[in-house]
Amino acid sequence: MKKLSTQPKNGLHGQLAVPGDKSISHRVLILGAVSHGTTTVHHFLTAADCLSTLTALRALGVPIEQAGSTVQVTGRGWHGLTAAKQSLDLGNAGTGTRLLAGLLAGQSFDSTLIGDASLSQRPMQRVATPLAALGAQIDLSAGHLPMRIHGQNLHATHVQMTVASAQVKSALILAALQADGPSTIMETLPTRDHTERLVRAFGGDVQTAGDQRTVTVQPRPQLHGQTLTIPGDMSSAAFFMTAAAIVPHSQVTLTDVGLNPTRTGLLQILQRMGGQVTVTPQVNPGEPLGTVTVTASQLRPITLTASDIPAVIDELPLVALLAATANGVSRITGAEELRYKETDRIATIVAELRKLGVNITALSDGFVIDGRSPWHVVDSQLASHGDHRIGMMLAIAALRVSTPLQLTDAGAVDISYPTFFDDLAQLLPAKAVLA
Ligand code: S3P
Repeated sequence: MKKLSTQPKNGLHGQLAVPGDKSISHRVLILGAVSHGTTTVHHFLTAADCLSTLTALRALGVPIEQAGSTVQVTGRGWHGLTAAKQSLDLGNAGTGTRLLAGLLAGQSFDSTLIGDASLSQRPMQRVATPLAALGAQIDLSAGHLPMRIHGQNLHATHVQMTVASAQVKSALILAALQADGPSTIMETLPTRDHTERLVRAFGGDVQTAGDQRTVTVQPRPQLHGQTLTIPGDMSSAAFFMTAAAIVPHSQVTLTDVGLNPTRTGLLQILQRMGGQVTVTPQVNPGEPLGTVTVTASQLRPITLTASDIPAVIDELPLVALLAATANGVSRITGAEELRYKETDRIATIVAELRKLGVNITALSDGFVIDGRSPWHVVDSQLASHGDHRIGMMLAIAALRVSTPLQLTDAGAVDISYPTFFDDLAQLLPAKAVLA
């Protein structure tokens, strides 16, 4: 049980560089593994999820050395991976699981993927069905893990996706890279494009057209190891941006944060809500990068619909929190995907914010929040439900109340941000920091 810091009288202040991007960290390991030569990664995210992917790749015969946030991958090429001796345990990592499904579907050996209780409840048919269009043979247990992948020669095809998911798209790209001709993948809505950018950086040919909805993959490229520095994770920086926006008198600056436009939904939403946000882009090859400063202000309510969701999918718990401080009624719809994350996030957001007296109602595909209702603590025992982003959102919510609150299963933050509480402490006055 962790004691959470309460509202600091003079707000949060300071400057932070958050750890490396989780999505990019997974992808760099995988692309490094199938490249020729060495890939050196700086500012890699050494959180549980990315370490699950790293361990799985080592079990597939890929030499990987890690010293702090620097990782060196010795590329084995498309044909140099070897069958793992045991099932590959991806822990809590949905991204690692879905991406590896795409990679392993085209290998010359069989693999089995397993995970923790949460991952074992998450839908996997969404990746197995479209991969089957390329000839993949994947067996699931009633749509869930364990996933048995029978490595095959894959065939070029055209796939129309049915869910807006970068994980599924990336699995398809990794499979299509091993197919016998060019493939096209059609998205329902544009989702994060880190895989496309990185494949190009490693020497492959992946093109996007039609407002980023059609991805064309040229097969069997010879990829070459790269040296790169991963930007700070927007999804981690988002906790402090939200804190700065909602805790009176705050001003926080996040440096070297990834500004890929498929990930910056929260910045636009904050601006639409009347937040004070300054963005200073930096020149950077590959992924956009920059500095973001957020200053506290009174926020307005917002309405979000399906097309707004992919660019803010991981920040929706924070959007709920922003809306809970706005001077009106916010309505978020088209976000049914939240039900398939590490927890059913519609249920966990509603259950936990209600403990703070927030006027929030669940919809089948989102929530309605009346920020005009004053907060009052109904239950001081908040719960992460084992979900890293719910735990961190609640730690930020606690900064709006003066009643001491506790968080159960606070260790869940290790999934994506092991130093979260230390970094938060840096922005708080020394006496506000509790054990
Ligand atoms: C991710 C994509 C998103 C996101 C997840 C990371 C990725 O999932 O929620 O945290 O790295 O591709 P979906 O693509 O399934 O929505």
